[in-house]
Amino acid sequence: MTRMHAAGIDPRVEDLLRRMTIEEKLGQMSQSTSMNTLTDQIRAQIRAGRWGSFLNAGSPADRAEAQRIALKESRLGIPLIFARDVIHGYRTIFPIPLGQSASWDPDLIAAAARLAAREAAAQGIQWTFAPMIDIARDPRWGRVAESFGEDPYLTGVLGAAMVRGFQGDSLDSADSLAACAKHYAGYGAAEAGRDYNSAWIPEILLRDVYLPPFKAAREAGVASFMTAFNTVNAVPATANRYLLADILRREWAFGGLVVTDYEAVTNLIAHGFARDAGDAARRAILAGAEMEMVSTAYYDHLKSLVASKQVPMSAIDNAVRDILRLKFQLGLFDGRAQRTGAVQPTPESLALAERAAEESAVLLQNKGAALPLPKSIRKLAVIGPLADSPVDQMGTWVMDGRASDVRTPLRALREMLGGGRVIYAPALKNSRDNSHDGFAAAIDAARQSDAVALFLGEEQSLSGEARSRAFLNLPGAQEALVDELAKTGKKIVVVILAGRPLTFHETASKVDAILYAWHPGTMGGPAVARLLFGDASPSGKLTITFPRTVGQIPIYYAHLNTGRPALESELGVPLGNPANPQGYTSKYIDVDFTPEYPFGFGLSYTKFTYSPSRVSSAVLRGAGRVTVSAEIANAGSREADEIVQLYLSGPVGGSVARPVRELKGFSRLHLKPGEKKTVQFSVSRAELAYYHGEKQFSAEPGLYQVWIAQDSASGIPAKFSVE
Ligand code: GLC
Repeated sequence: MTRMHAAGIDPRVEDLLRRMTIEEKLGQMSQSTSMNTLTDQIRAQIRAGRWGSFLNAGSPADRAEAQRIALKESRLGIPLIFARDVIHGYRTIFPIPLGQSASWDPDLIAAAARLAAREAAAQGIQWTFAPMIDIARDPRWGRVAESFGEDPYLTGVLGAAMVRGFQGDSLDSADSLAACAKHYAGYGAAEAGRDYNSAWIPEILLRDVYLPPFKAAREAGVASFMTAFNTVNAVPATANRYLLADILRREWAFGGLVVTDYEAVTNLIAHGFARDAGDAARRAILAGAEMEMVSTAYYDHLKSLVASKQVPMSAIDNAVRDILRLKFQLGLFDGRAQRTGAVQPTPESLALAERAAEESAVLLQNKGAALPLPKSIRKLAVIGPLADSPVDQMGTWVMDGRASDVRTPLRALREMLGGGRVIYAPALKNSRDNSHDGFAAAIDAARQSDAVALFLGEEQSLSGEARSRAFLNLPGAQEALVDELAKTGKKIVVVILAGRPLTFHETASKVDAILYAWHPGTMGGPAVARLLFGDASPSGKLTITFPRTVGQIPIYYAHLNTGRPALESELGVPLGNPANPQGYTSKYIDVDFTPEYPFGFGLSYTKFTYSPSRVSSAVLRGAGRVTVSAEIANAGSREADEIVQLYLSGPVGGSVARPVRELKGFSRLHLKPGEKKTVQFSVSRAELAYYHGEKQFSAEPGLYQVWIAQDSASGIPAKFSVE
């Protein structure tokens, strides 16, 4: 079992370990959320070494006093590590990760994480439970909001960027946080999109879809992993030796710390997996879960389990080594200050948050170039409660962001146009409001205006953990509001703020433009205003497939072709019959089987054209490489960014059927009107490798296709063979 050997630290870890009692060891393996305030009881517990870590605990001052007690008044002076869910910002809130992912901008995501680390570390946080790199293919699941979407390659690239951002150049820097790859593994495969539900994942999907982002985080040097709540093929992830020992430790040689999710150890009882808390503690520690979050099965039972030889002391010692090593790496033994600095947004942090919100927004529809709106507009009706709802705008998993910092779209539009030209009508109390009482004022505002900026979507409370939805339509009376406003005949541009893909097919047919801004964070307002009025051009591209209806789920772009693919968007009862199976293809008879918007899709205020893709060679042999290229031109009238995507498929003729496409690269272009550039990608067997047969991971010989395209449903491919 290879572990991370940080020079100079291991002797100090071993020296401490030798001197620790088993109670002190089990204390290090215990993380608590109990420190809302630093009570005398908690002071006494810290002195006794009862806790190794606190989560989402107390004020900066409390944390500093707790750390002082741990260092100065406990027997061995082992410092505490303070963890927090710094998911998409600390005080300055960035778009939700699903939104950030639509920027396809690893450097931006790293910069946002770096800034969040600086803010959190200034207040004594040393460990964040992010990035969340679960592959999410089911928007019913509320936690798609925290994910980077459905694609393993993109999630791996963006997750690694977030790890680098949080951890900085060295973990012991005063502004570094230890990052945490979560939730290991397969949490996004929760059956029926119901949070915490069972995940049934065949090895080929585990290896090709759900594990790659975690392997990328491991390769990026992530300091910790968090075990998931769910079972993977009937074995809970928190007590899953295959995941925690065989893959994480043995195959990937991960040497960092494994923490469980919240009470996931005692959840093993409800799973019907563990008989009781003692059995849960035994099975989790033997699998490799090292620090227990919140529940106290380890502290309560591992001493007796060691005494009865059901758990070897080595399992305890290995866990404590990884915990102490992380604390050494963070500099906590060597004077890293337990900081209590004041933190507030700065012009730099707000500018970055605005850029992130701008690059995250995706233009889904723009009939008749309805957008951008002219700055000369006489009057603009701003309608919908989400136009001025700071808390909702920040999205899920916000602990330290403040509503008072948030610049809403309404405020930004008033600042841009002057209050006299903006008429605001919320129309609804909130996104779930079913009342039509506010419609009259909204219709009146629309009638007085040249155009309507209609803000639709989900409020914060409908998104995130334990927020699975069985339906994805716009909640409340929002669809009825669209119908009434459409009757005014005014130009309607819709901005959707949401934490997941929603279904709004009918709405789209009644409005002119749709900008999907997710939950865009502190500076969502200025970003949306700039995009609506053309100070910036939307460049975001979807990282998760948008279904037409919830009935299509699961629907994702990297699917198999089936033996009877529906060639076009077939509908209706098949014309053929079993004897003559015309139309007996893989589709629905009641809805177009294609998505509403495909993975990788996003419009711009200009028009980009792509030449057919070309390959430098028709054959890839041995360790060789094939260069794929295409010309991309800006055929419109505005300069803008384009995210060019590289997709591969194949081989035909291998051991397994392969997805119709898989993302293998991307690059951002900035083109002026009339400008064109040749984009090239270099492809080797490594990029083509996939799981097949018994633990085989390679690119088998056969025919492959390659696209340089603007989304997963377009482009003219080139072909090449691998020999
Ligand atoms: C939650 C989440 C996890 C989070 C942890 C601590 O239940 O599943 O992502 O980091 O508990 O808040």
